[in-house]
Amino acid sequence: MACERDEQGTGPHRLIFVVSTKLKTKNSKLKTPVPVRWRKEVERVLITDKQIARRVKILAREIERDFRGREMVVVSLLSGTVMFLADLMRHLNLPLRLDFIGVSSYGTGTESGELVFTKELRIDVRGRDVLLVDDILDTGKTLSRVLPKLRALKPRKIKICVLLDKPSRRVEKIKADYAGFAVPDFFVVGYGLDFAERYRNLPFVGVLHPHIYKKVCKQVCRK
Ligand code: PRP
Repeated sequence: MACERDEQGTGPHRLIFVVSTKLKTKNSKLKTPVPVRWRKEVERVLITDKQIARRVKILAREIERDFRGREMVVVSLLSGTVMFLADLMRHLNLPLRLDFIGVSSYGTGTESGELVFTKELRIDVRGRDVLLVDDILDTGKTLSRVLPKLRALKPRKIKICVLLDKPSRRVEKIKADYAGFAVPDFFVVGYGLDFAERYRNLPFVGVLHPHIYKKVCKQVCRK
């Protein structure tokens, strides 16, 4: 199993599933093999589709409990949230409306760069309960830019929900209210997460082979 429950924290949202830092495990029976199609590019399956499905259901139950009684607005960041959002929403048995904010960082390969807003919110969130959904909370730079914009629209409350949390990379003081899995500092792709817009369609979260991103970084840096 790649995932372990970390029950050191207290309160419903502190129950975080921590993904093992070991890239290779001695017991090969415990390792989920990378599908043959992706073996050259993906080093390891970090979180399986089944583990994701189980965790997303639990997150949905926590969110339902906290948002019960009022119509919520789900605000999702494009584009990495696609799969997570679709799965999470189908388990949310609450009245809700959905909108997107387009935001992207244009960096050199693995490092995030300048943030550019590509789509603004259209639904009026004034006085509403907002669930802000992102695929990964990494340095926190994206959410630290998005949150003030959203707060300026005067919602009643904003809660942050992310599938993956990489606390070791944080440079901004941002915390998720709901986090699916705490992951180590691996380059992760799949289940919506990309590298150079690829790999979003993998049904699992995997670790990209360094030779893939090193090659692209070299090309970008040469320009
Ligand atoms: C990714 C991801 C998060 C952000 C997290 O977005 O979707 O929004 O980076 O990183 P941070 O915490 O360091 O800011 P990206 O700009 O790659 O766009 P994408 O969602 O289209 O992949």
